[in-house]
Amino acid sequence: MNKRLKIGVLYSHVRIEEKWIFGAMDKRGIEYDRLDNRTIHFDLNNPSQWQQYDAIIERSIGYNNGLYALRILNTFDVPTVNTARVAEICGDKLITSAILSRSGIPQPHNLTAFTPEAALEAIETLGYPVVLKPVVGSWGRLLAKINDRDAAEAILEHKATLGSVQHSIFYIQEYIEKPGRDIRAVVIGDRLIAAMYRKSEHWITNTARGGQGELCPVTPEIEELALRAAKAVGGGVLAVDLVEHPERGMIVNEINHTMEFHGLQPVSGVDIAGEIVEYVISIARNGIPSS
Ligand SMILES: Nc1ncnc2c1ncn2[C@@H]1O[C@H](COP(=O)(O)OP(=O)(O)O)[C@@H](O)[C@H]1O
Ligand SMILES: [Mg+2]
Repeated sequence: MNKRLKIGVLYSHVRIEEKWIFGAMDKRGIEYDRLDNRTIHFDLNNPSQWQQYDAIIERSIGYNNGLYALRILNTFDVPTVNTARVAEICGDKLITSAILSRSGIPQPHNLTAFTPEAALEAIETLGYPVVLKPVVGSWGRLLAKINDRDAAEAILEHKATLGSVQHSIFYIQEYIEKPGRDIRAVVIGDRLIAAMYRKSEHWITNTARGGQGELCPVTPEIEELALRAAKAVGGGVLAVDLVEHPERGMIVNEINHTMEFHGLQPVSGVDIAGEIVEYVISIARNGIPSS
Protein backbone atom coordinates (compact mmCIF):
# COMPACT_ATOMS: atom_id res chain seq x y z
CA MET A 1 0.00 0.00 0.00
CA ASN A 2 1.13 3.55 -0.68
CA LYS A 3 2.48 5.48 2.28
CA ARG A 4 -0.08 7.99 3.55
CA LEU A 5 1.04 11.41 2.41
CA LYS A 6 1.02 14.59 4.40
CA ILE A 7 0.86 17.90 2.54
CA GLY A 8 1.16 21.47 3.82
CA VAL A 9 -0.57 24.45 2.26
CA LEU A 10 1.21 27.67 3.13
CA TYR A 11 -0.80 30.83 2.54
CA SER A 12 -1.32 34.34 3.80
CA HIS A 13 -4.98 34.89 2.91
CA VAL A 14 -7.63 32.40 1.97
CA ARG A 15 -8.66 33.66 -1.44
CA ILE A 16 -11.05 31.77 -3.68
CA GLU A 17 -8.05 29.87 -5.12
CA GLU A 18 -7.01 28.58 -1.68
CA LYS A 19 -10.63 27.56 -0.98
CA TRP A 20 -10.63 25.57 -4.22
CA ILE A 21 -7.28 23.98 -3.33
CA PHE A 22 -8.53 22.97 0.13
CA GLY A 23 -11.66 21.59 -1.53
CA ALA A 24 -9.58 19.56 -4.00
CA MET A 25 -7.52 18.15 -1.09
CA ASP A 26 -10.66 17.26 0.85
CA LYS A 27 -12.23 15.62 -2.20
CA ARG A 28 -9.21 13.36 -2.58
CA GLY A 29 -9.04 12.55 1.14
CA ILE A 30 -5.51 13.95 1.39
CA GLU A 31 -4.14 14.63 4.86
CA TYR A 32 -2.98 18.24 4.91
CA ASP A 33 -2.31 21.16 7.23
CA ARG A 34 -3.34 24.73 6.57
CA LEU A 35 -0.32 26.85 7.41
CA ASP A 36 -1.11 30.55 7.78
CA ASN A 37 2.19 32.37 7.41
CA ARG A 38 0.87 35.26 9.52
CA THR A 39 0.70 33.01 12.57
CA ILE A 40 3.28 30.23 12.19
CA HIS A 41 6.96 30.49 12.98
CA PHE A 42 9.88 28.42 11.82
CA ASP A 43 12.25 26.90 14.37
CA LEU A 44 15.44 27.01 12.33
CA ASN A 45 17.10 24.55 14.70
CA ASN A 46 14.39 21.98 14.21
CA PRO A 47 14.07 20.79 10.58
CA SER A 48 11.93 17.82 11.62
CA GLN A 49 9.04 20.20 12.31
CA TRP A 50 8.85 20.58 8.52
CA GLN A 51 10.22 17.26 7.36
CA GLN A 52 6.96 15.63 8.44
CA TYR A 53 5.54 17.02 5.19
CA ASP A 54 5.96 15.10 1.96
CA ALA A 55 5.41 18.34 0.06
CA ILE A 56 4.31 21.91 0.71
CA ILE A 57 2.41 24.13 -1.65
CA GLU A 58 3.25 27.79 -1.23
CA ARG A 59 0.50 30.35 -1.90
CA SER A 60 1.69 33.43 0.00
CA ILE A 61 0.72 36.79 -1.43
CA GLY A 62 3.79 38.62 -0.12
CA TYR A 63 6.79 37.75 -2.29
CA ASN A 64 9.44 37.98 0.43
CA ASN A 65 7.61 35.86 2.98
CA GLY A 66 6.94 33.17 0.44
CA LEU A 67 10.48 33.20 -0.88
CA TYR A 68 12.07 32.89 2.57
CA ALA A 69 9.69 30.14 3.57
CA LEU A 70 10.64 28.24 0.40
CA ARG A 71 14.34 28.76 1.03
CA ILE A 72 14.02 27.34 4.53
CA LEU A 73 11.91 24.39 3.36
CA ASN A 74 14.18 23.51 0.44
CA THR A 75 17.24 23.78 2.70
CA PHE A 76 15.53 21.21 4.94
CA ASP A 77 14.91 19.05 1.83
CA VAL A 78 11.15 19.52 1.89
CA PRO A 79 9.80 19.44 -1.70
CA THR A 80 7.80 22.56 -2.49
CA VAL A 81 5.53 23.79 -5.26
CA ASN A 82 7.12 25.91 -6.50
CA THR A 83 10.77 25.66 -5.55
CA ALA A 84 12.68 28.56 -4.00
CA ARG A 85 14.77 28.81 -7.18
CA VAL A 86 11.67 29.14 -9.37
CA ALA A 87 10.28 31.80 -7.00
CA GLU A 88 13.58 33.69 -7.12
CA ILE A 89 13.45 33.77 -10.91
CA CYS A 90 9.75 34.43 -11.48
CA GLY A 91 9.24 36.83 -8.57
CA ASP A 92 11.77 39.21 -10.04
CA LYS A 93 11.05 40.46 -13.56
CA LEU A 94 14.68 41.35 -14.16
CA ILE A 95 15.92 37.84 -13.33
CA THR A 96 13.11 36.33 -15.40
CA SER A 97 14.23 38.42 -18.39
CA ALA A 98 17.84 37.33 -17.96
CA ILE A 99 16.87 33.65 -17.78
CA LEU A 100 14.53 33.91 -20.79
CA SER A 101 17.28 35.64 -22.72
CA ARG A 102 19.79 32.94 -21.85
CA SER A 103 17.32 30.34 -23.08
CA GLY A 104 16.64 32.20 -26.33
CA ILE A 105 12.94 32.69 -25.55
CA PRO A 106 11.31 35.67 -27.30
CA GLN A 107 10.43 38.51 -24.94
CA PRO A 108 10.19 42.31 -25.01
CA HIS A 109 13.41 44.26 -25.33
CA ASN A 110 14.47 45.01 -21.73
CA LEU A 111 17.13 47.30 -20.35
CA THR A 112 18.29 47.85 -16.79
CA ALA A 113 20.20 50.72 -15.20
CA PHE A 114 21.00 51.72 -11.65
CA THR A 115 20.87 55.51 -11.73
CA PRO A 116 18.23 57.89 -13.16
CA GLU A 117 20.83 59.34 -15.55
CA ALA A 118 21.82 55.93 -16.93
CA ALA A 119 18.14 54.95 -17.07
CA LEU A 120 17.31 58.04 -19.14
CA GLU A 121 20.07 57.22 -21.58
CA ALA A 122 18.84 53.63 -21.81
CA ILE A 123 15.27 54.82 -22.44
CA GLU A 124 16.42 57.10 -25.25
CA THR A 125 18.17 54.22 -27.00
CA LEU A 126 14.83 52.33 -27.07
CA GLY A 127 12.69 55.29 -28.12
CA TYR A 128 9.24 56.18 -26.79
CA PRO A 129 6.93 54.91 -25.51
CA VAL A 130 8.62 52.70 -22.93
CA VAL A 131 7.34 50.91 -19.86
CA LEU A 132 8.98 51.10 -16.45
CA LYS A 133 8.16 48.36 -13.97
CA PRO A 134 9.17 47.57 -10.42
CA VAL A 135 11.26 44.37 -10.59
CA VAL A 136 9.04 42.82 -7.91
CA GLY A 137 5.34 43.51 -8.22
CA SER A 138 2.00 42.23 -9.43
CA TRP A 139 -1.61 43.17 -10.20
CA GLY A 140 -0.32 45.79 -12.62
CA ARG A 141 0.75 48.08 -9.80
CA LEU A 142 3.25 50.91 -10.35
CA LEU A 143 3.71 50.20 -14.03
CA ALA A 144 4.47 53.40 -15.90
CA LYS A 145 4.02 53.93 -19.64
CA ILE A 146 6.31 56.80 -20.57
CA ASN A 147 5.49 58.63 -23.77
CA ASP A 148 8.21 61.29 -23.92
CA ARG A 149 11.40 62.61 -22.37
CA ASP A 150 9.59 65.00 -20.00
CA ALA A 151 7.61 62.14 -18.51
CA ALA A 152 10.75 59.99 -18.34
CA GLU A 153 12.64 62.62 -16.36
CA ALA A 154 9.73 63.12 -13.98
CA ILE A 155 9.11 59.42 -13.33
CA LEU A 156 12.81 58.65 -12.87
CA GLU A 157 13.20 61.49 -10.37
CA HIS A 158 10.09 60.46 -8.47
CA LYS A 159 11.23 56.84 -8.30
CA ALA A 160 14.73 57.78 -7.17
CA THR A 161 13.46 60.24 -4.54
CA LEU A 162 10.26 58.67 -3.28
CA GLY A 163 10.59 55.00 -4.14
CA SER A 164 12.00 52.21 -2.00
CA VAL A 165 15.52 50.92 -2.64
CA GLN A 166 14.07 48.52 -5.17
CA HIS A 167 12.77 51.35 -7.34
CA SER A 168 16.34 52.41 -8.05
CA ILE A 169 16.80 49.23 -10.04
CA PHE A 170 15.35 50.71 -13.20
CA TYR A 171 13.74 48.03 -15.34
CA ILE A 172 12.85 49.44 -18.73
CA GLN A 173 10.87 47.68 -21.41
CA GLU A 174 9.83 48.41 -24.96
CA TYR A 175 6.11 49.22 -25.17
CA ILE A 176 4.27 46.63 -27.23
CA GLU A 177 1.29 47.66 -29.36
CA LYS A 178 -0.64 44.51 -28.54
CA PRO A 179 -4.19 43.95 -29.82
CA GLY A 180 -6.03 45.01 -26.62
CA ARG A 181 -5.28 41.76 -24.86
CA ASP A 182 -2.65 39.43 -23.52
CA ILE A 183 -2.75 35.69 -22.93
CA ARG A 184 -2.45 33.84 -19.66
CA ALA A 185 -1.35 30.24 -20.17
CA VAL A 186 -1.18 27.90 -17.19
CA VAL A 187 1.48 25.23 -17.22
CA ILE A 188 1.52 22.45 -14.65
CA GLY A 189 4.49 20.12 -14.88
CA ASP A 190 4.99 19.38 -18.56
CA ARG A 191 1.45 20.24 -19.67
CA LEU A 192 -0.32 23.41 -20.70
CA ILE A 193 -3.70 22.98 -19.05
CA ALA A 194 -5.64 26.12 -20.00
CA ALA A 195 -5.28 29.54 -21.57
CA MET A 196 -7.27 32.73 -21.44
CA TYR A 197 -7.22 36.11 -23.14
CA ARG A 198 -7.31 39.09 -20.83
CA LYS A 199 -8.97 41.92 -22.74
CA SER A 200 -9.05 45.55 -21.76
CA GLU A 201 -9.43 49.04 -23.14
CA HIS A 202 -6.50 49.95 -20.91
CA TRP A 203 -2.96 48.92 -21.85
CA ILE A 204 -2.71 47.11 -18.50
CA THR A 205 -4.89 44.03 -18.93
CA ASN A 206 -4.62 42.35 -15.49
CA THR A 207 -7.96 41.07 -14.21
CA ALA A 208 -7.07 42.86 -10.96
CA ARG A 209 -7.30 46.03 -13.06
CA GLY A 210 -10.54 45.24 -14.81
CA GLY A 211 -9.29 43.05 -17.67
CA GLN A 212 -11.95 40.61 -18.91
CA GLY A 213 -11.18 36.92 -19.23
CA GLU A 214 -12.16 35.07 -22.40
CA LEU A 215 -11.27 31.55 -23.44
CA CYS A 216 -8.20 31.39 -25.66
CA PRO A 217 -7.84 28.42 -27.99
CA VAL A 218 -4.50 26.74 -27.34
CA THR A 219 -2.58 26.87 -30.60
CA PRO A 220 0.61 24.84 -31.09
CA GLU A 221 2.51 28.17 -30.98
CA ILE A 222 1.07 29.12 -27.58
CA GLU A 223 1.63 25.65 -26.21
CA GLU A 224 5.19 25.36 -27.42
CA LEU A 225 6.21 28.81 -26.18
CA ALA A 226 4.53 28.49 -22.78
CA LEU A 227 6.08 25.06 -22.16
CA ARG A 228 9.54 26.27 -23.19
CA ALA A 229 9.27 29.35 -20.96
CA ALA A 230 8.06 27.29 -17.98
CA LYS A 231 10.93 24.85 -18.45
CA ALA A 232 13.48 27.68 -18.71
CA VAL A 233 12.55 29.00 -15.25
CA GLY A 234 12.60 25.56 -13.64
CA GLY A 235 9.03 24.31 -14.12
CA GLY A 236 6.20 23.63 -11.66
CA VAL A 237 2.83 25.36 -11.41
CA LEU A 238 3.21 28.51 -13.49
CA ALA A 239 1.17 31.15 -15.28
CA VAL A 240 3.03 32.19 -18.39
CA ASP A 241 1.83 35.56 -19.68
CA LEU A 242 2.20 36.02 -23.42
CA VAL A 243 1.71 39.09 -25.60
CA GLU A 244 1.24 39.36 -29.33
CA HIS A 245 3.93 41.63 -30.72
CA PRO A 246 2.83 43.30 -34.00
CA GLU A 247 6.10 42.38 -35.76
CA ARG A 248 7.58 39.52 -33.76
CA GLY A 249 4.44 37.50 -32.99
CA MET A 250 3.98 35.74 -29.67
CA ILE A 251 6.47 36.66 -26.93
CA VAL A 252 6.67 36.04 -23.18
CA ASN A 253 5.90 39.00 -20.93
CA GLU A 254 6.29 37.43 -17.50
CA ILE A 255 5.86 34.21 -15.55
CA ASN A 256 3.98 34.03 -12.26
CA HIS A 257 4.89 31.42 -9.65
CA THR A 258 1.92 31.88 -7.28
CA MET A 259 -0.74 32.57 -9.83
CA GLU A 260 -4.31 33.55 -9.25
CA PHE A 261 -6.79 31.61 -11.38
CA HIS A 262 -10.21 32.82 -10.21
CA GLY A 263 -10.82 34.04 -13.78
CA LEU A 264 -9.33 31.16 -15.70
CA GLN A 265 -10.95 28.26 -13.85
CA PRO A 266 -14.55 29.29 -14.68
CA VAL A 267 -13.69 30.57 -18.18
CA SER A 268 -11.84 27.39 -19.17
CA GLY A 269 -13.95 24.90 -17.24
CA VAL A 270 -10.69 23.23 -16.23
CA ASP A 271 -10.37 22.20 -12.57
CA ILE A 272 -7.08 24.02 -12.07
CA ALA A 273 -7.10 23.57 -8.28
CA GLY A 274 -7.54 19.82 -8.82
CA GLU A 275 -4.66 19.78 -11.33
CA ILE A 276 -2.44 21.63 -8.83
CA VAL A 277 -3.29 19.15 -6.08
CA GLU A 278 -2.57 16.20 -8.40
CA TYR A 279 0.81 17.76 -9.23
CA VAL A 280 1.64 18.30 -5.55
CA ILE A 281 0.76 14.66 -4.86
CA SER A 282 3.12 13.54 -7.63
CA ILE A 283 5.89 15.75 -6.19
CA ALA A 284 5.22 14.32 -2.72
CA ARG A 285 5.57 10.78 -4.08
CA ASN A 286 8.37 11.23 -6.61
CA GLY A 287 10.19 14.48 -5.70
CA ILE A 288 10.73 17.49 -7.92
CA PRO A 289 11.48 16.51 -11.53
CA SER A 290 14.80 17.91 -12.72
CA SER A 291 14.34 20.38 -15.55
N1 LIG B 1 5.89 46.28 -22.40
C1 LIG B 1 4.56 46.24 -22.42
N2 LIG B 1 3.86 46.65 -23.50
C2 LIG B 1 2.52 46.62 -23.52
N3 LIG B 1 1.76 46.18 -22.50
C3 LIG B 1 2.39 45.74 -21.40
C4 LIG B 1 3.81 45.74 -21.29
N4 LIG B 1 4.16 45.27 -20.10
C5 LIG B 1 3.04 44.98 -19.45
N5 LIG B 1 1.95 45.26 -20.21
C6 LIG B 1 0.55 45.07 -19.81
O1 LIG B 1 0.47 45.26 -18.43
C7 LIG B 1 0.07 44.06 -17.76
C8 LIG B 1 0.83 43.89 -16.46
O2 LIG B 1 2.23 43.80 -16.72
P1 LIG B 1 3.12 42.73 -15.98
O3 LIG B 1 4.51 42.89 -16.45
O4 LIG B 1 2.52 41.38 -16.16
O5 LIG B 1 3.06 43.19 -14.46
P2 LIG B 1 2.32 42.55 -13.19
O6 LIG B 1 3.34 41.67 -12.57
O7 LIG B 1 1.96 43.70 -12.33
O8 LIG B 1 1.16 41.73 -13.70
C9 LIG B 1 0.34 42.96 -18.75
O9 LIG B 1 -0.54 41.88 -18.53
C10 LIG B 1 0.07 43.66 -20.08
O10 LIG B 1 -1.30 43.74 -20.35
MG1 LIG C 1 1.36 40.08 -15.00
